Amino acid sequence: MPIITDPQEFNQEELYIDLRPMCGHSLFLKVEGFNFAGSIKLKAAAEMVRAAERDGSLTPDSILVESSSGNLGVALSMLAANKGYRFVCVTDSRCNPAALRLMESFDAEVHVITEPAANGGGRLGARLDHVRGLCASDDRYLWLNQYGNPANPRAHYRTTAPAIARRFPELDVLFIGAGTCGTLMGCARYMHELRRPVKIVAVDTVGSVTFGGPSGRRLIPGLGAGVRVPQLDESYVDDLVMVPEAKTIRTCRRLARRGFLFGGSTGTVVSGALDWLARNDAGDLTAVAVSPDLGEHYMETVYTDEWVQEHYGEGVLARDEPEAAAERDRVGRPRRARRGRRLGAIPAR
Ligand SMILES: Cc1ncc(COP(=O)(O)O)c(C=O)c1O
Repeated sequence: MPIITDPQEFNQEELYIDLRPMCGHSLFLKVEGFNFAGSIKLKAAAEMVRAAERDGSLTPDSILVESSSGNLGVALSMLAANKGYRFVCVTDSRCNPAALRLMESFDAEVHVITEPAANGGGRLGARLDHVRGLCASDDRYLWLNQYGNPANPRAHYRTTAPAIARRFPELDVLFIGAGTCGTLMGCARYMHELRRPVKIVAVDTVGSVTFGGPSGRRLIPGLGAGVRVPQLDESYVDDLVMVPEAKTIRTCRRLARRGFLFGGSTGTVVSGALDWLARNDAGDLTAVAVSPDLGEHYMETVYTDEWVQEHYGEGVLARDEPEAAAERDRVGRPRRARRGRRLGAIPAR
């Protein structure tokens, strides 16, 4: 085990989960949630801060500001605390309360936007308007701008993609969720420069406009956008799977029943990968999907039956028969369906 001085020095880059028992395809899930910021966004945050320090735009007087649905905000809060910078995170009402508390624990200032932009840019548009307003009000503010900062995709070009290519030299397909498209574009560019072809499949949430679909309700943070993402170059994307959030939740719950608790976007990416592989894999492909974070920040949403039923309807939590049968085969006994209640006080005898 390494000995570290700064929290950003530690990141588990070499962990994959073999999903073959779950889906019958050679699908491996690259787990990015094991670091002190708890997500893949540590890489983008560290690379953007390093670039700003190098080019002199970030000085001890600066106030870092960023729009984030949670994970980048947590990573920047942690880095800012470690390096002694002030940091303001502009987020919206979809931000996980736990992520918000975490940022505040690192002494970050959090501004929560509750209304969508008047010009139709959704909550993301409203967040960006707020950031621009802060920057116009005081020139100490430095906006890292994860949506347009080349250091965001570069982080994945330098780290995530080479790690995958090293571990899976026979890789055929790579599934990546699209938020700011930093992970997607960094990995896609790296894979395109390899001598062997790797198919890049983007996974996005139904309701996101990133790939030109109609805007719609999205409640799970991480993937998707309400405005087009400047970083995206679709010529690097071979295929796209759009996943409705109901399927995201079903897949998260399916992984949890195997003992793996992941965040919402992992459910989306795995769901998209399973869908794509069911249509395109005759059993000869090697595929990797990237998991951005773990599930502990999603207790009140993805893993609370009442929340799921309120927003997606009763049917979402029902298991279809093939899945239930596969689970019966695996554990050798019927599994108890999850009840729609939470543990309360232990009753007195
Ligand atoms: C949980 C989660 N999943 C996926 C993403 C998307 O990653 P990217 O911004 O690199 O597209 C993010 C980004 O914030 C995230 O927090």
